[in-house]
Parts: sequence; C-alpha cells; structure tokens
Amino acid sequence: MTAHHHPDHHPDHHPDHHRAAAARLWHALKPFPRYPLVTPGTGSHTALPALSADLGITLTLMRDDVGAYGGGGNKLRKLEYLLGAALEQGAKTVITVGAVQSNHCRLTAAACRRAGLEPHLVLVRMVPNTTPDYVNNGNVLLDTLAGAVLHYVDTAEEARATIATLMQTLDHPYYIPAGGSDATGALGYVQAVAEILDSGQHWDLIVTTLGSGGTQAGLLAGYAAAGVPQRILGLSIGYTVAEATPIVATDAANTLTLLGSCANAPAPWIDDRGKGEGYGIVSPAGNDAITAMIRQEGVFLDPVYTGKAMGALFSAVHDGTIRARSRVLFIHTGGFPGLFAYQPFLTPVQAHG
Ligand SMILES: Cc1ncc(COP(=O)(O)O)c(C=O)c1O
Repeated sequence: MTAHHHPDHHPDHHPDHHRAAAARLWHALKPFPRYPLVTPGTGSHTALPALSADLGITLTLMRDDVGAYGGGGNKLRKLEYLLGAALEQGAKTVITVGAVQSNHCRLTAAACRRAGLEPHLVLVRMVPNTTPDYVNNGNVLLDTLAGAVLHYVDTAEEARATIATLMQTLDHPYYIPAGGSDATGALGYVQAVAEILDSGQHWDLIVTTLGSGGTQAGLLAGYAAAGVPQRILGLSIGYTVAEATPIVATDAANTLTLLGSCANAPAPWIDDRGKGEGYGIVSPAGNDAITAMIRQEGVFLDPVYTGKAMGALFSAVHDGTIRARSRVLFIHTGGFPGLFAYQPFLTPVQAHG
C-alpha cells in the first residue's frame, strides 16, 4: 500500500479541515426550507468484504436506499428540499414526471402523502416493455396504493402538454422535473456531501448511478462549494456521455448559484459503458452484478439503475479505470421495487446461478 492509499497520509485529507468544510456547507444550506424525509439509517455505510476481496479494491455502500418513507431511495434527499420549497410557496398539489416504473414518481407520491400534498404523476410509456409486471407491479402498484393520480402518456411531447394543462387546472401546483433533478433537488446531495465530510473518512473515489443527473450534480456542487477536491464518477444507465455531460454540468452550476457559491464545479466524469441497450432495458452485466451483490453481501440492487451501474463499476475495476486498492464509496440509490416489475427478465439469472 502506498502512502497515497493510506487514509491518514493522503495529501488532501485532514479530518478537521473536512469537518470545517462540512460546517460551511450546513451553513450554506440553512436558508433553504426542508421537509424532513431523511431518517436514521439513510447514508449509513455498509462494508462489502467479499466483493472487495474479489475486486482488489475497498468497496463500501452508502445506504441511500434505506429510508422510512415510500420504500426508500435517493429521491428522498432531493424531495426534502423540493417539498420544502413547495410547502413554502403554499402548494396544495405536486406534479412530476417519469417512466412508468419511475422510483422518483413512487417516492414523490409517498412523500407528498406524508406532507399533505396531492401527487399527480405523468407516466411516460418510454420503455419498450408491455409485460404485466412492468405495467402493473413494482412502482406502479405502489403509486396506486398511495392514491397518486396517474396520467399516462406515450411521448415526451405529450408529457409536456399534460404537465402544462395540469399547471393551469390544479389547485396551487408545484412542478418537480423528472428525477427531481433541478438545483433545489440537488441540494439534497449537497447535504449528503456535508454528511460524508462530517464522517471524517477519506474516499479515493465516490461513485453514483447517473439517471437524470441530479445526484452527481449535487455531489459535484457540494464538494466544489466546500472547497474539497474529490473524484466523483457518474455511471450512466441511459444517457450517453455526450448527452449526460451538459445536463450534469448545468445542474451543478445552477446548484452552486442557488447556494450563493462563487466556486466552479469541475467537468463531470461520466462513463456510459453500463447503459447497454438504453434506459429501462436490463443488461447481462447488470443482472450479474445484482446476483453477485445479493449472494456475496446480502444486499439487493435494482435492475434499471444500481445493478447496471455496479456492473459498469466491476468492468471499470477490471480494465484499470478504477485503480487497484482504491477506497471506493458507491452510493446505493435504491430502486428495489423494480425487481418485481422486471421479474421475467431476471428469472434466468436465478436459473443459471
Ligand atoms: C434507484 C435509482 N438510482 C439512481 C437514480 C439516478 O439518480 P439521478 O436521477 O439523480 O441521476 C434514480 C433515479 O433516476 C433511481 O431511482
């Protein structure tokens, strides 16, 4: 082990310096209203000894999949600030949009119910999947149990038109973009940076799944505002690198502006090797990662996001993109209900495993 890899000898790592940076972030976040949804357990760390030994790195999960409301997931961090803003503005209804099996829509429905807001979900049939489980089970079942008002559409254009109509007709509406990925939502991941810095641990690399981009944008903005250098990798499961890069960069810049920070976020580091055939389509590498994680570590990943990203992480370790012996924190962003929606595409994994 080189000095570079030893936490106590890392040139950029001074726990006191990090705690002071965290305090500055908490201070910068104070003016923003927050509806409490992040509960004990969220953000806790799970060591993965067996997978780490296989991979030759130290791999740790940050458990943003754990949460008290709606089944848990990364969207709860964003929704704290989004619903905080909605309630401050006197909203009575919330409109958001996503794929039919959107975890973000499911968590928005649950969080809105707790906050006394009426959730309207615009569900776009953008994934070529008409199996009964995809259409009715998983997140759709949970949306229905939450009593969310579902508005099905076939295209992005139709979604825009439906959202415009709902904004005109609903009682005091508040609009949340897909994935909760605007500057207000990304504040949830600025707060996550404050929590990571408070923990005093050093990570060579923080890895997140990249869907709509707000998680990586919030992490980039948080570290930039804190003035702490940190390598952050976004593993895209839908967008190409060319598509994702301006989305994440713009969201990070807008988040820094909202925070009142003069810092510039570094260009995002994004890898799209895990996207396979595209958003919402499972991949063999992703399914293998799901199997490895549950069978070696007892933790479930999901088929659309974290499984595909973990498959990409394994590949990036094998080809040296992620260096041997690195200390890596992978943010487990949730998505558990997707396993039930994709049952026909996951069963073969069990058969040959
Ligand atoms: C389980 C899960 N992981 C990751 C993501 C991606 O996060 P982001 O949209 O912030 O890129 C999402 C939502 O899009 C998700 O539901």
